Amino acid sequence: MTKWNVEELTPGRTVEAIFWPNPALGSQFKLRATHLDGRRAPKVVLSNDDRIVAGVPCLVRVLAVHKPERDDRGRIEVEFVSRAPFRIEGMYLDPIVSKKLQVLLQSGVNILLDGPQGCGKTVLARAIADTLGMVFVFFNCGAVVEASDFFVSIQVRASDSGAPVTDFVKTDVLVALEEAAEHPDRRYLVFLDELNRCQESARNALMPALDSTRRVFHPIENTFIQIPENVQFIAAVNRGREFSGTFGIDAAQLDRFAPLQMDYPPPKAEVEILARRHPEVSAASLEVIVAVADAIRNAPDLPGSLSVRATDEACVYLKHPLFADDGKRALPEIMKSSFCARFPGRWDDITTDAGAVWGIVRKTLASHKVPLPDENA
Ligand SMILES: Nc1ncnc2c1ncn2[C@@H]1O[C@H](COP(=O)(O)OP(=O)(O)OP(=O)(O)O)[C@@H](O)[C@H]1O
Ligand SMILES: [Mg+2]
Repeated sequence: MTKWNVEELTPGRTVEAIFWPNPALGSQFKLRATHLDGRRAPKVVLSNDDRIVAGVPCLVRVLAVHKPERDDRGRIEVEFVSRAPFRIEGMYLDPIVSKKLQVLLQSGVNILLDGPQGCGKTVLARAIADTLGMVFVFFNCGAVVEASDFFVSIQVRASDSGAPVTDFVKTDVLVALEEAAEHPDRRYLVFLDELNRCQESARNALMPALDSTRRVFHPIENTFIQIPENVQFIAAVNRGREFSGTFGIDAAQLDRFAPLQMDYPPPKAEVEILARRHPEVSAASLEVIVAVADAIRNAPDLPGSLSVRATDEACVYLKHPLFADDGKRALPEIMKSSFCARFPGRWDDITTDAGAVWGIVRKTLASHKVPLPDENA
């Protein structure tokens, strides 16, 4: 991309930058950046604003341009506006969700990511931790039956004499809580995946930990321990659109999280995601794959939905030499397994959901002029 012109950088303009400690010895400015919005700046960009964190993308406002007429000298002085919106490499994030997420992460409240299957909840949580330099702790709640399961798992093994012994093994969550207390300088992101799938009673018992008391029972030490300030929770729940409102978490529990609604990327963004991952697949094929997925996702009356994993899988087939030669002609066959088989029933049984999906596949492929197999042959 081209270099900025000095005239473009008028005072008041807001741009994004990453600052690093200013290497110039004796300079009155602590922080320096060389690029604004990804384009090379015409002069060094300097600031002393304490709100800027080195290495973390932020939005800054141009305060003044010194010596605009000189190519070899001068500086652009800026002040901090806000942390830059999340942009996570290879991941689509709705701009509004991104803004809200930023506010919530800064305030430290617990976040509930709520969205259909395979819309990127897990990838997002991990990416947040990476982006913000937090220690990421992944915990799947699907197997939680009792509240203590969040913190310890019980393992039975044979002792030397052969008699069974029970070991209490700390879960990653408990290990993280203990570590966080010892390392107040680190920040921990505990991700509770599939929170809707654990037993309700267990979830209830976890709740005091998540609200203002921030205390949990340590089942090995038999005492309550405090959850350190440097631990933030993000939970994810997965529900099909048709179940909206009923995902087994009651209002009091929900109230302890700031809910954030996620959805599938818009078709254009999904095509871009897939194009980056599968450069071998033609743009035309990607359009068709995403158009079919979009039609399935928007179909009324279908239970469940179609994740980005499904469109990704279709690309994996399509680019393989065994299918690549057929080009778009291979799509109907691929979609029978990658799309229809994700629903109950069979693609060739119209009374089932898989059959209904096959109907949508055929219709959408036909409208994109993809040749269909003759089913009466
Ligand atoms: N918005 C997105 N941008 C980029 N990739 C995405 C997006 N959503 C999903 N994907 C891709 O789809 C796959 C599934 O994503 P992920 O596991 O995060 O979904 P999820 O919402 O956690 O699903 P589940 O509800 O089944 O747990 C990953 O390969 C991910 O990279
Ligand atoms: Mg997930």
